[in-house]
Amino acid sequence: MDPKGKNVWITGATSGIGRALAVELARAGARTLVSSRRLDRLEETVAACRMAGAEASALALDLADAASLPGKAREAERSLGRIDILAAVAGVGQRGAALDTESAVARRIFEVDFWGTVELARLVLPAMYARGGGQLVVVTGVLGKFGAPRRSFYSAAKHALHGWCDSLREEAPGAGVEVTLLVPGWVRTEISEHALDDGGAPHGRMDPGQQRGITPEECARRSLPAITKGLPEQLIGGIECGGVYLNRIWPGLFRKMLRRRGIG
Ligand SMILES: NC(=O)c1ccc[n+]([C@@H]2O[C@H](COP(=O)([O-])OP(=O)(O)OC[C@H]3O[C@@H](n4cnc5c(N)ncnc54)[C@H](OP(=O)(O)O)[C@@H]3O)[C@@H](O)[C@H]2O)c1
Repeated sequence: MDPKGKNVWITGATSGIGRALAVELARAGARTLVSSRRLDRLEETVAACRMAGAEASALALDLADAASLPGKAREAERSLGRIDILAAVAGVGQRGAALDTESAVARRIFEVDFWGTVELARLVLPAMYARGGGQLVVVTGVLGKFGAPRRSFYSAAKHALHGWCDSLREEAPGAGVEVTLLVPGWVRTEISEHALDDGGAPHGRMDPGQQRGITPEECARRSLPAITKGLPEQLIGGIECGGVYLNRIWPGLFRKMLRRRGIG
């Protein structure tokens, strides 16, 4: 959907990809409502969107607080009038072993990365179907296409998003609602710093994969055509995106390479 003149509610907009995408959408003429937990940083995103020439406002939101989401969706609708595009970017990473990660931490990752996005979509999309137009944009990642050590629950949540969104798209193919999955490789953001370890503490440092990654601004620039064209899925990144294809056609070789080189 062409974002020009459209109303966009975007989560994960305090930093990284979400912030850059909010500004990119504002530059393309969209009115944005930006969400996540840290209000002070949301206000910086609002200022950047306004600098880009568009109307913008902020709504604080914790995706882990499931009970608050219906009220937040109503506030978002009141604020924007009509939500044309829901861009679900927010997410939390993981740096903990599959068997050692505490259940509460594993559940939190699913609560934010899978359920938070899915519940918002279930609250916002019925109005889009009723109008016969709208778009759900979900940021997943290459770990939604293959697994990697110390990312088991994160990778599982991102795989689950692919399954859910692909199924949703097929339930009403002619209804005018586009479902677009953006699948970045490595992007230089705070994701690894905030990623949760076995016990739920932040990993606290930027990993080499993120350090080598594309900038969030480049990721946002390359996301815009996929959003505008309503593509079902778009890979965005560097050579690591080739891993998605290699894993499909030659999984044995891909696993060998992953073990030799690590995940970054
Ligand atoms: N960077 C990469 O290499 C990469 C690669 C593939 C996919 N991704 C995906 O890209 C998306 C954005 O991540 P990023 O790389 O831009 O990292 P980031 O800079 O850490 O951004 C994460 C965003 O999610 C928000 N968030 C985290 N927990 C939340 C919660 N409980 N409720 C609401 N918002 C929450 C954060 O805001 P608050 O802390 O203010 O809530 C922040 O705005 C994520 O879904 C991530 O999985 C990233």
